[in-house]
Amino acid sequence: MAEPFDLVVIGAGPGGYECAIKAAQLGLKVACVEKNETLGGTCLNVGCIPSKALLHASELFDEAGHAFAGMGIEIPAPKINVKQLIAFKDEAVEGNTKGIEFLFKKNKIEWVKGLGEIVGTGKVKVGERVLETKNIVIATGSDVAKLPGIEIDEKTIVSSTGALTLAKVPERLLVIGGGVIGLELGSVWGRLGAKVQVVEFLDAILPGMDGEVVKNFTRILKKQGFDFKLGSKVTKVEKTKTGLKVSVEPAKGGDTTVLEADVVLVAVGRTAYTGGLGLETVGVATDKRGRVVTDGSFKTNVDGIYAVGDVIAGPMLAHKAMEEGVALAERLAGHYGAVNYDVIPGVVYTAPEVASVGKTEEQLKEAGVEYNVGKFPFTANGRAKANKTTEGFVKIIADKTTDRILGVHIIGANAGELIQEAVVAMEFAGSSEDIARMCFAHPTLSEAVKEAALAVTGLPIHM
Ligand code: NAI
Repeated sequence: MAEPFDLVVIGAGPGGYECAIKAAQLGLKVACVEKNETLGGTCLNVGCIPSKALLHASELFDEAGHAFAGMGIEIPAPKINVKQLIAFKDEAVEGNTKGIEFLFKKNKIEWVKGLGEIVGTGKVKVGERVLETKNIVIATGSDVAKLPGIEIDEKTIVSSTGALTLAKVPERLLVIGGGVIGLELGSVWGRLGAKVQVVEFLDAILPGMDGEVVKNFTRILKKQGFDFKLGSKVTKVEKTKTGLKVSVEPAKGGDTTVLEADVVLVAVGRTAYTGGLGLETVGVATDKRGRVVTDGSFKTNVDGIYAVGDVIAGPMLAHKAMEEGVALAERLAGHYGAVNYDVIPGVVYTAPEVASVGKTEEQLKEAGVEYNVGKFPFTANGRAKANKTTEGFVKIIADKTTDRILGVHIIGANAGELIQEAVVAMEFAGSSEDIARMCFAHPTLSEAVKEAALAVTGLPIHM
């Protein structure tokens, strides 16, 4: 392809590949540099997609073992074939990464294979080749955060990557970090038979989520067999002949307890990945946490260099990166593009799922905003009763004066799909009354959203 390019995107994760595709759709000549053998970044290769394949399969396994008999479906006790399970997951990954390859070809985006290094304004070196371009987008994503002294070997001491390819179900899985990864992957192996212990530094799991949701969700997970050691930190993991010895201390200091495990999953967050990018050479500024500093329109401090996704500030979520990539491509092509950071949903894909968008009660209290809350439990929803998925509730928080929806938090089956109704309403600056007056199909789990909206200023029908 003749150079120069209009745009060279470094990194083909969700932020990078969507930026490349949208820019190409809008007529720009685009190359995307990716060092991995496949496109799609962390999300498609070792994150969102493979974990969802394992969550789906393990949930069906769990249902077959526990819920089928109650529905009159009589089958022998299910057995798990881990090799086939991993192959099922790999197939899902391949289907998705190949899909991006197809989209690159379709949109005439050149995939330049190798590590991209910015060697000057408008210059990206990949191996022996130097790409000339008008604009550079850094979309290099993030990497697993490490704990000092605990070496990840991806066999018995694993990150999320290793936890997607365990050769067998561990008898005892110890998870360090009660965040999204710890709870999702803990759920996978827990459903398949592992005894799961979670050591969390803070006094609650899922920091930043609505407190009431966290309290309920913790209870649900305990019922599923999760054992939580909250307010605790892991100081050492030792390998012995019989497994791993994990030293745990109270976060505030105190006596050490030694726990035993077969596999330890380190899931204490992720850090911006800028290895080998050459940011110092061109003087791109980073913050204290190593993230590329951008202004409100994804520009770095160096002209012609932009950044999106996990490598900049904000929630490390694939869909946040995607929106940023698209908005930036639109801007580079001379159009208008923006991201509404107030309305970015977050989903934990456990069973039940946990989903939220907007503000939590805690955040609103801190900001001194007055609000009303409407809640509706799935125990009172007809479809949830029929499906026997009655755990959880929908909670809608709306401004006390204007009734504008400020936050929606859901625990329940399909919460990750239901939350999108709230996203749409909030994007259009909707009020709880707007939702309460809409017609919802019956019988659906969605009706719990309508009933929660009715509960904000009045009374739900089914309670
Ligand atoms: P996280 O930030 O969600 O959770 C990490 C947890 O580890 C926190 O609760 C933190 O308090 C705890 N922690 C930190 N240091 C610790 C220590 N020394 N000992 C014990 N606990 C400690 O990070 P996680 O789960 O690793 O996920 C990484 C990123 O990937 C997150 O930004 C997450 O949002 C994203 N992700 C999103 C998913 C989704 O949207 N469904 C799925 C998986 C990951």
